Amino acid sequence: MELAENGAPIIAGLLVFEVNGERFEVPEIDPSTTLLEFLRTKTRFRSVKLGCGEGGCGACVVLLSKYDPKLKRTESFTVSSCLTLLCSINGCSVTTSEGLGNIKDGFHPIHLRFAGFHASQCGFCTPGMCMSLFSALANSEKSDHLQAPPGFSKLTISEAERAISGNLCRCTGYRPIADACKSFAADVDLEDLGTNTFWRRGDAKGIRASKLPTYNPIDHACSYTDVTKSELKSKRILNFEQYSWHTPLTIDELQSLLCSDMVRNGAMIKLVVGNTGDGYYKDAKKYDKYVDLRSIPELSMVRRDEQGIEFGAALPISKVILYLKLESKTNTSSDRKVLFTRIAEHMEKIASIFIRNSASIGGNLVMAQRKHFPSDIATLLLAVDSSVSILSGHGQEKISFEEFLYRSPLDPKDVLLTVHIPFPKSSEVQNSVGQQHPRVLLESYRAAPRPLGNSLPYLNAAFLVDACCNESGVLVNRVRLAFGAYGTKHASRATNVEEYLAGKVLSVEVLDKAVKLVKEAIVPEDGTSYPAYRKSLAVSFLFSFLTNLINDCSDVIGGSKNDPNGKLLENAAKVYDKIMPSPIKGPTLLSSAKQIMETNRDYNPVGEPMPKFGAPIQASGEAVYVDDIPSPPNCLHGTLICSSKPLVRVKGISFKSKPEPTGVVDIITANDIPKGGENVGGMAHFGSEPLFADEVTRFAGDFIGFVTADTQKHANLAARMASVDYDTEGLDPPILTVEEAVERSSFLEAPSFMLPSMVGDFSNGMANADHKILSAEIKLGSQYCFYMETQTALAIPDEDNTMVVYSSVQWPEFLHRSIAKCLGIPEHNVRVITRRIGGGFGGKLLRAMTVATACALAAHKLRRPVRCYLDRKTDMIIAGGRHPMKIKYDVGFKSDGKITALHLDILINAGITVDISPFIPFTMVAALKKYNWGALSFNIKLCKTNHSSKSAVRAPGDVQGTYVAEVVIEHVASFLSLDVDSVRNINLHTYESLSFFYPHSSGDPVEYTLPLILDKIAESSSYTERVARVELFNKSNFWHKRGISRVPIVYQVSVNATPGKVSILWDGSIVVEVGGTEMGQGLWTKVRQTTAYTLTSIQCDGMDDLVEKVRVVQSDTLSIVQGGVTSGSTTSESSCAAVRLSCNILVERLVPLVKELQEKTGSVTWDDLILQAQNRSINLAAHAYYVPESSSSEYLNYGAAVSEVEVNVLTGQTTILRTDIVYDCGKSMNPAVDMGQIEGAFVQGIGFFMLEEYLDNSEGLTITDSTWTYKIPTLDTIPKQFNVELLNSGHHKDRVLSSKACGEPPLVLAVSVHCATRAAICSARKQSNIPSTFLLDVPATMPVVKQLCGLDTVEKYLQSLSSSS
Ligand SMILES: Cc1cc2nc3c(=O)[nH]c(=O)nc-3n(C[C@H](O)[C@H](O)[C@H](O)COP(=O)(O)OP(=O)(O)OC[C@H]3O[C@@H](n4cnc5c(N)ncnc54)[C@H](O)[C@@H]3O)c2cc1C
Ligand code: FES
Ligand code: FES
Repeated sequence: MELAENGAPIIAGLLVFEVNGERFEVPEIDPSTTLLEFLRTKTRFRSVKLGCGEGGCGACVVLLSKYDPKLKRTESFTVSSCLTLLCSINGCSVTTSEGLGNIKDGFHPIHLRFAGFHASQCGFCTPGMCMSLFSALANSEKSDHLQAPPGFSKLTISEAERAISGNLCRCTGYRPIADACKSFAADVDLEDLGTNTFWRRGDAKGIRASKLPTYNPIDHACSYTDVTKSELKSKRILNFEQYSWHTPLTIDELQSLLCSDMVRNGAMIKLVVGNTGDGYYKDAKKYDKYVDLRSIPELSMVRRDEQGIEFGAALPISKVILYLKLESKTNTSSDRKVLFTRIAEHMEKIASIFIRNSASIGGNLVMAQRKHFPSDIATLLLAVDSSVSILSGHGQEKISFEEFLYRSPLDPKDVLLTVHIPFPKSSEVQNSVGQQHPRVLLESYRAAPRPLGNSLPYLNAAFLVDACCNESGVLVNRVRLAFGAYGTKHASRATNVEEYLAGKVLSVEVLDKAVKLVKEAIVPEDGTSYPAYRKSLAVSFLFSFLTNLINDCSDVIGGSKNDPNGKLLENAAKVYDKIMPSPIKGPTLLSSAKQIMETNRDYNPVGEPMPKFGAPIQASGEAVYVDDIPSPPNCLHGTLICSSKPLVRVKGISFKSKPEPTGVVDIITANDIPKGGENVGGMAHFGSEPLFADEVTRFAGDFIGFVTADTQKHANLAARMASVDYDTEGLDPPILTVEEAVERSSFLEAPSFMLPSMVGDFSNGMANADHKILSAEIKLGSQYCFYMETQTALAIPDEDNTMVVYSSVQWPEFLHRSIAKCLGIPEHNVRVITRRIGGGFGGKLLRAMTVATACALAAHKLRRPVRCYLDRKTDMIIAGGRHPMKIKYDVGFKSDGKITALHLDILINAGITVDISPFIPFTMVAALKKYNWGALSFNIKLCKTNHSSKSAVRAPGDVQGTYVAEVVIEHVASFLSLDVDSVRNINLHTYESLSFFYPHSSGDPVEYTLPLILDKIAESSSYTERVARVELFNKSNFWHKRGISRVPIVYQVSVNATPGKVSILWDGSIVVEVGGTEMGQGLWTKVRQTTAYTLTSIQCDGMDDLVEKVRVVQSDTLSIVQGGVTSGSTTSESSCAAVRLSCNILVERLVPLVKELQEKTGSVTWDDLILQAQNRSINLAAHAYYVPESSSSEYLNYGAAVSEVEVNVLTGQTTILRTDIVYDCGKSMNPAVDMGQIEGAFVQGIGFFMLEEYLDNSEGLTITDSTWTYKIPTLDTIPKQFNVELLNSGHHKDRVLSSKACGEPPLVLAVSVHCATRAAICSARKQSNIPSTFLLDVPATMPVVKQLCGLDTVEKYLQSLSSSS
């Protein structure tokens, strides 16, 4: 075994590695320490962000480089630093985003292109994205692709997209990120890339390429990835007791370790390879020994012999894929080619690249065997009849993979050594039916919420068949049918179907019987979600497989078929096959995107599509978020201990498990609130809410205590180990549904001025109706904001009983109040600082206050700084999310679809406290009023339940209101069998009806742009032609159906009072403070532009680049008071308005001086002017408080979207083929920023309508509490074609610089995707004779869609074939 360059292994006594070229020696470390933990707490590098801690988001991705002494070359690949154990990187070099480039040494072209393509909003995901791209670029240079033209890499656009397909971004909607990545691709057409700061429309291709930040694979290959230092070149084996980390080099060494006295005496031992299993199991156990399996040659080898290929169990999945692809290329047998290609292609859908790079094949299989992990690999290996070799107490043995799966769970000391995949063997016997050319084929399937973007499947399957084509049709000699991940202990074979099919010629009857049998075989265990759906998937997959076989018969197997049944099936297969080039199988994930925007130069530089302020430092990871602020000396870390029950009396908290958690300092509870303080954790307009449960918890997730410890990890572990003593004696049962709330009259009150007003006379409207639908019901679930940065704060006690708190909060002003109240100190003793927020979306209002107030309380009691960065699970449990609702409606309408009256009974689940709930009826009704209902009445109740408080989530209330409006329209259309679009049109407002429904916000007639928008979008999206094309498609396709929908929105916003402060410093640079917080929405960028525009009216020289002299700084509640809340889409414009007022004051003070100086010298520059002003003691700081006039305080926004989707009737998968949006931004202050808001909001809306299930258990405790169970959109789930046009609707006298809001309204446009999906399902139901009136739930997930298309479509189809034969 060659281990080092000089041939000898170096047994290292010291853990040594490099980070961005800096050498780190770690003499002592807890072996469970992850690379992320080390980087973030022990180095100055902060670009690795913690988004999930479970491998599911990509925020922590780094590049790992290590020298392979055997191959004498450096290998570089991405890993998730949150799962990589520090001891496992001994001798490696780590590169983080700031290592690629930074503000001091210059940014890397990746950083600059991310900034220039507007691909970074809050910036929290950006460093991880950059590293994923960098790795793809670096590795593409090693590929055999053709040399790229200068300025580009060898990467293809498809590879560029896939490089980031496992990274999550909640802000941008991915399109600009994909563009930034594709700009490096050799095969990119720069014409296809979206809006950017590099070139102008009309620039020729060559010019465009020259304007991109230069990229040269040699100059921009990071030097750290080329590990040349001899120390890192030798293979360092970390094998030292001080780390409890052992690296055996041979199987004998491993065996003696496993049989050592220590282990025999019960020491806890953990075998480890990539440690990615921890992402799923989050193992909290403390181990005495870690045994790293990667250096044992047998476990990392690939061996090929006559029988097949054997893989060492410690090989990462990505390497296995590589070898399989190589094998399929070099192998001459087509059966083997197909087999290995299929396995490799399936494996490429497992997790994401940065996981596959370290996740071993053996680790996956052991998780499947021992802990019933829903593995894809187990299913594949079972189908191909693999075998494994194991090392156990009895020595080594080789057994079939199937036997391995069915054995009792492996002992922790048993080792999986290798996995053997046999070459396929076809039967050689010529049988009585005259079989020809037998072939062995493998096909595999998986149905997952996100096809490529890291998602466990509902069901996976792999089928291996030995078949041939003869005179009678397709003859199945043998078949192995493996199914997995459907809610059983492990993958299993449908042996009953296998036995039945063996020796059969495929016919309708045979398929019919086979699908019946497969339903008997695939039985999810009790408690599995969607059992019927999973069963139906098994049927769909088997049907697809067998019908495809018939198709392949003529193409691949050869031969003719005379059997009439076979012919029928052949036709069925063709129907299937024709439409089978599913959109997701195309070469690229996104096909095209257009952004149309008009730059408005009236208020230059306002209106310029400038890049987001600070984007390059966000990309390099140098932008500082709360958790990036270094801990002050003596700092403690805390986290919340939450109740798992809704309504219980808490008797005490203890740590019952042994050993007790380490590092714990104190548990803070309600009893620690100081004298004079109150149990207050957050405040909103309608009152405050408690920080801790007092004696009785109020909901599952209520805060019982705040545990503080020496590290965040220890605090988190302690919270998990905390055992809460409780009883329920004498307590009423909790209220968990809105129905129970009604029964027990448990309501929250909204102040009367917040109540929405009804319109017209409902009884009259109903009396005029030709038809009525009565008591129709809708239910709506919740949605989690999924900001990438979870709730976080740092509280530092200061002199004289004061407290400084850094918080990622959207409402610093009220957090300030809340802390003062809780601690019982005057408000001037508190200071809240918020620099930037890693995504808010409304979720960082009251919950952010709770976390920060808890830190402040702990800091106050312990007289030490206390910080908290919530883990994703706790964050998801406490967040509350969007308001779930139950709605009943009565609607009356004419025969032409004109609605005459609508009444709604709305029960809103507001959770336990008032939070922002009183706004919900108002916003919901405002959105509902987008159509002219004739008369509108409602009865809305805010139900107080024992659930976490429901809070603001981007477009709160509006998204539900819009959805309800569309459900009613669709219901009416379906009742009358009318085209939905025509029903929408007939109910669209005229300006008169608009003013009737929105008396205070309808504005001037010319501002009502919705009819214009609808015409525009009809034309730009070729709506009418595409409706016809969709119809044609649906007529000629059986298993895929398309739907198209055009939906308008009207969105009302309110503008709030906001302060602004502008100060000019000696050198002419300008510093601005505003009430609003920057959370990715580009507020600071617009404020900079407005400052420059307003000050330019001073009219002196040297002001061309004034915008570059403006810096907007963090919000600080003592520096600028009455800061208000950043919410409701209007904070950017009101902050700009406040800044304008402040600038106007300065202009007024400076203009006389300019005039005087100009008169004296003819001209004056900005710098001289400011110098003179300083010398003359002119006050160069101005503060203003913008209070909108009543005509400006409320207005309407308009937009429309056309979406087209394709539904796979067999699986329920929906692919968004195309979306067109036209949105009225007024005169956009920054079209690039607004475009980003529109696209990002729309994609978040797709999450709400199509993907995201925020579910509770029967006691109200959140159960979809991780990236494993909560699926936000990824690159593969956004529209393949995505066109957005910003409509510049000209001058609006009551708006701030004529601009309009865009942060939230476009989210509700995603209802168009839902409506299009409904249309596609409608078509599927029609063909199966299922009634066309139905309600499509939100989110329209795969199980929901499939259920509505029919869980038994295959069975019915086969029956119809049978009866027609
Ligand atoms: C975000 C994410 C998404 C994923 N998605 C999928 C998916 O879609 N489909 C799928 O199939 N899998 C998926 N996985 C699972 C992934 O394949 C496994 O986590 C990985 O293969 C485990 O390998 P590892 O080297 O990291 O194991 P480790 O985490 O190091 O070990 C896992 C367990 O196996 C034991 N172990 C490891 N190797 C051996 C061995 N040779 N002998 C005995 N015991 C051993 C360890 O002691 C430990 O108990 C996903 C994982 C993550 C983190
Ligand atoms: S933090 Fe590591 S993948 Fe999310
Ligand atoms: S910019 Fe991607 S998560 Fe905010």
